[in-house]
Amino acid sequence: MDQPEWWQRGIVYQIYPRSFQDTNNDGVGDLPGITQRLDYLQWLGVDAIWISPIFPSPMADFGYDVADYCDIEPLFGALSDFDRLVTGAHARGIKIIVDYVPNHTSDQHPWFIDARSARGSEHRDWYIWNDANPPNNWLSVFGGNAWQWDAGTGQSYYHAYLKEQPDLNWRNRAVQDAMDDVLRFWFDRGVDGVRIDALRQLVKDSQLRDNPPDPDWQPGQDPYRSLVPLYTADQPEVLEHVARWRALSDGYSERVLIGELWLPIERLVAYYGVDGRGLHLPFNFHLILTPWQARQIVSLVEKYEAALPEGAWPTWVLGNHDRPRIASRVGAAQARVAAMLLLTLRGTPTVYQGDELGIQDVPIPPELVQDPAEKNVPGLGLGRDPERTPMQWDATINAGFCAPEVRPWLPLTADHDVRNVASQRDDGQSMLTLYQRLIELRRATSALCVGTYRTLHVDSDVFAFEREAGAQRVRVALNLSHEPRAVRLPAGDVLLSTHLDRAGVHVDETFELRPDEGVILT
Ligand code: GLC
Repeated sequence: MDQPEWWQRGIVYQIYPRSFQDTNNDGVGDLPGITQRLDYLQWLGVDAIWISPIFPSPMADFGYDVADYCDIEPLFGALSDFDRLVTGAHARGIKIIVDYVPNHTSDQHPWFIDARSARGSEHRDWYIWNDANPPNNWLSVFGGNAWQWDAGTGQSYYHAYLKEQPDLNWRNRAVQDAMDDVLRFWFDRGVDGVRIDALRQLVKDSQLRDNPPDPDWQPGQDPYRSLVPLYTADQPEVLEHVARWRALSDGYSERVLIGELWLPIERLVAYYGVDGRGLHLPFNFHLILTPWQARQIVSLVEKYEAALPEGAWPTWVLGNHDRPRIASRVGAAQARVAAMLLLTLRGTPTVYQGDELGIQDVPIPPELVQDPAEKNVPGLGLGRDPERTPMQWDATINAGFCAPEVRPWLPLTADHDVRNVASQRDDGQSMLTLYQRLIELRRATSALCVGTYRTLHVDSDVFAFEREAGAQRVRVALNLSHEPRAVRLPAGDVLLSTHLDRAGVHVDETFELRPDEGVILT
């Protein structure tokens, strides 16, 4: 390939700012906390951090309800703290990606306060209003009908998420212009990219047609999934806005646009845009959605590779602040194999904070539940607090996330006295050491960061693939079972094992992978 861009070679690390590092004793993380931990991120070897929303917000959806797109929420600090973070990160060669939340604002945003004040208000048409109550069957992701009746003005407004998160009307030119200015504000301030929130929902059917029922849905499953979002997601006009943002970002140098898109592969790849003039990286969440089974993962990878348009760069995600943690989903032993997979596949990986320690979901007792997803639709396992618990830095009370006398906003894992950065950093066989070595090896090995992908072997428990760049070839073999498994590949030397104990060892054509072992070979 031509000279790769930083976001093609690089590794993204997602920071959930409420849970990274508290420095002002309120039990909630903040921007100075991120700045304080930049040396750790540099040591880990990541190229960019994506920070979930840090903008002024009533926190109905923990920052995804934005009341001002161009300032910093006081809980997290001030614009001066953000500038210091950017300077500190750039000094260490780390890029900064912020969240861009265009689908909806907070109901406390001045635009919505004005819109709601009267039918004839300046910003009325910036949101989506209708006389009926409700106008159709559209559902909110967080439970119930997606229309909220506004008694004051006698119309309903649409909210894909909470009623405190009214959807913007992207057919209104003034909305487009105002939100383009938001992108310029952050790019001018030095950010290197944006992660675009809830992108598939940006535009809704202008005729407000009912969504059809999903015949596969069963009672007891997420009620939102009872309808197919045919008229509320992935509308053709979304791509027009993506193309406009791309043109805007191309006016700056080396900026990246990443989109949150829960879509099937064939639709996801459309977001690279015509002739690659769309997103640089439409987030691919299919490793989160695919059963942890060798044949299924290989068919996913091959399907994705085959679907990518010419010149499109792949990307992979194992977890984020919205989904159960990988170590809970596949177990502690397989989480190491998953780490090797994420960091050896072709495409930009995003690592979710704490996954590098093997942190598991934390069960949250009802009285400590924070997430509106759980409060509104309780008991179905839809709550996201379990994967949002604080980062664990050391063996002190509160694991160094906040001062010992402070109560963190969510509890830590039960094993935080041993599962933390300080203890794993000094342990040559820990998950953190594995992540650091994988990242180091990937960075040093062109075949791993930019090489081609080819499947070499798959059976029910094991799969192997090759990455190749120029004369350099690297093979990866992963055992997804808890039993030893023989595999036959060209003989070579072990560069790294998930067990961190046999680097440099030569293996013959047929060799044994130990239970839950992955290896990278020359
Ligand atoms: C995205 C975010 C999620 C948020 C939702 C509404 O899916 O990742 O956390 O609740 O959008 O903004």
